[in-house]
Amino acid sequence: MSNERLAEAGISVDIDGVVATLTLDRPEVRNAQHPRMWAAMADVLESLDASVRIVVVRGAGGTFSAGLDLALLDPAKRAEEGSLVATLSKSDQEIIDTIGEYQRPFALLSDPRFISIAVVEGHAIGAGFQLALCCDLRIVAEDARLCMKEPALGLVPDLVGTKPLVEAVGYARALEICATARFVTGVEAGELGIAQTVVPAADLEAALTASIGALTAHSQGAVQGTKALLQQAPLRTLDEQRLAERTAQVARFRELAVAFGLA
Ligand code: CAA
Repeated sequence: MSNERLAEAGISVDIDGVVATLTLDRPEVRNAQHPRMWAAMADVLESLDASVRIVVVRGAGGTFSAGLDLALLDPAKRAEEGSLVATLSKSDQEIIDTIGEYQRPFALLSDPRFISIAVVEGHAIGAGFQLALCCDLRIVAEDARLCMKEPALGLVPDLVGTKPLVEAVGYARALEICATARFVTGVEAGELGIAQTVVPAADLEAALTASIGALTAHSQGAVQGTKALLQQAPLRTLDEQRLAERTAQVARFRELAVAFGLA
């Protein structure tokens, strides 16, 4: 995709070796999100080269994302592209299909081909919090502020964030965080298991570099296969998981046989 189209969609993409960095790039509106941005993000994620092992998601200008662009909820701007107000009059099925399209990039972030890392500083609100939750890992500044704002706007979180939130903190805490739409600090996000790494904002780059180094130190195929096994583990019985483990190991054995000169 051309840099021009990416800029129009409010994102920038940098590919450096095995690391792709996707930056929400609308700092003047705190990286507020809109459907054109989501479509471009999905296209970028779908077209990544197989050599990409890490996808970093971050925001420009010292903040992650203020969530949905509030202009889309403004009845006076209902003629604008992507207006949610214009969606209100659609049929039930059209609404479901439209949101299904919006969810694409959020779901793609859990693709076993790569490990996605959200670097969260400043605010991650609503769609911003959900975007961070959809990444495999979160590196969060101590003073970051995360909030599932949707219920406060009369909405439910619908951008793939509810499942990873429940998986991270459990049903009761997830309900408390969402129903109150309160802010969770970076420090609390670490205590709750939402963030895997919590550091002072000044140390985010060093923490990211260290994480990327550690996450790419080992065989790409082994890491991809392990990620897929771990993702599916909660959905399977023990016997099903045992079968999945030994089946996945076949490809590893074949690769090792080649490495040992036996095949
Ligand atoms: N949409 C559009 N513009 C936004 C925005 C948003 N979500 N958030 C901030 N902006 C704009 C502001 O209007 C302001 O523009 P001007 O300079 O033209 O006045 C500019 O960004 C800077 O904003 P602030 O001065 O408020 O910046 P701040 O650093 O003091 O505060 C903030 C940052 C806490 C994120 C605050 O801007 C804020 O609360 N924003 C709204 C957050 C929000 O309610 N988002 C919707 C979440 S719900 C959701 O995402 C729904 C969904 O998925 C279904």
